[in-house]
Amino acid sequence: MTCSLFLGTYTEVQTKMRKIPQGLRLGVATAAFQIEGGWNASDKTPSIWDNFCHIPGRVADGTNGDDTCKSYEFYQRDLKMLKFLGVDFYRFSVSWPRVLPNGFANKISKDGIGYYSKLVDELIAIGIEPVVTIYHWDLPQSLQDLGGWANPLIAEWFEDYARVLYNALGDRVKTWITLNEPKQFGIYGYGTERFAPDICSAGTGEYMVVKNMLLAHARAWHLYDKEFRPTQKGNCGITIATDFREGLTDSPADVEAGKLALDFEVGFYSHPIFSKTGGFPERVVKRIAEKSAEQGYPRSRLPELSKEEIALISGTSDFFGFNHYSSKFYTTETYKRGMFPIPSYNDDIGAVGTYGGYKEAPVIHTKKIPNGIRKALNWVKDQYDNPEIFITENGYGTSSGSNDLERIDYYKEYINAVLDAIEVDGCRVSTYTAWSLMDNMEWSSGIGAKFGLFEVDFNDDQKTRRPRASAFWYKDLIAKRTLDLEAKPQVEEISF
Ligand code: NOJ
Repeated sequence: MTCSLFLGTYTEVQTKMRKIPQGLRLGVATAAFQIEGGWNASDKTPSIWDNFCHIPGRVADGTNGDDTCKSYEFYQRDLKMLKFLGVDFYRFSVSWPRVLPNGFANKISKDGIGYYSKLVDELIAIGIEPVVTIYHWDLPQSLQDLGGWANPLIAEWFEDYARVLYNALGDRVKTWITLNEPKQFGIYGYGTERFAPDICSAGTGEYMVVKNMLLAHARAWHLYDKEFRPTQKGNCGITIATDFREGLTDSPADVEAGKLALDFEVGFYSHPIFSKTGGFPERVVKRIAEKSAEQGYPRSRLPELSKEEIALISGTSDFFGFNHYSSKFYTTETYKRGMFPIPSYNDDIGAVGTYGGYKEAPVIHTKKIPNGIRKALNWVKDQYDNPEIFITENGYGTSSGSNDLERIDYYKEYINAVLDAIEVDGCRVSTYTAWSLMDNMEWSSGIGAKFGLFEVDFNDDQKTRRPRASAFWYKDLIAKRTLDLEAKPQVEEISF
């Protein structure tokens, strides 16, 4: 059977039971700020997210990251949950200010690095591979005070921090992810009030940080490649939010708007690293230059990458780290000048993005559009000569409840689309990661947006975790290595 969703037609495999392909590893993910708590434990200093959440009104439900799931204290319970699920690997992140309280590598916290070292050892002891994200958004405030990602020197600070981690954990950690979702912490953090550090430099600062992030990532990759890979023999790459974008209609203007939006959303970060030519996508460079000139700027608001910088960034990822939640459809039809701040990222795109007519979702950015993941995987394959893809996040947000059948449906349909992308289209996906192991601090949405396979009781000091229906379902998928589209999970009352 073929199916068409706006643009694009694919053949779908029509079977209710599908074997998980050999070599597709299954796991779950979390991030330090979202689960650890212990925000001022031992010699840890505040991160930009600690401070952001402490400002009244910044987080939708007034919560903060002081405790969250208390994994800094209770990580052994997390290990039991991972064992219960039977995952192949666990993706977690390291908190920069926990390991380097000054932000700089002159002082390494014994307790901080000790925490991650124990976690790695205990994961390996139960047969679960540690996959480590070096930066998942919690910059030390001390470095933010010096400009954070807007200061070009951050590329060196980040390289030094990465060296500390490779040295301390690289004998046991074989998969490194440098940065998680550069668009989200760059554009939301430096162009809007939505994310720490709340710089609100729309259309200018938000683009400066993109360049610095790419250089920071590249330096950390080269460091691994030259000094650590020969002995440690692992992989190092970047994770990019690869939600799909396309035209709302098939009018030439909308089709072009979809392509431009996708280049702004994904290509901005992936093109410099994965494309043959290197550098930012042409469409993005041209659009920002044109708008900057119209607006009277003497030069483009997008900083240039020099030839040397293009070469330094090019080819610096051993896999394409791919996070995906939903898709958006773009139209120029309803776009009006002035509807977005001028200048800004959205005004530069110059089109309106919507989720189309799909069913409402409790957490809007996870609206279920399963064919979108297949399209995004194919886009990566076609643009970049079929790289190995690690799906480092995919998941569904709810607002309450433990009988989360909606989440199970989302996972079934998305994993089914991933299997189509692998088996029918030839995409080289070798890793699938569910977001998230448990409910956690969903950034400025607080603890109200729930992504967990395990439900966490945040009112209880013990932060008790209970498997939702989706945890039983995922456990079963992993145990049988089969996607059963009609499976109904057998649920038991247990807690961790
Ligand atoms: C992607 C981010 O990496 C993660 O931190 C966040 O919780 C999920 N999206 C869900 O919004």
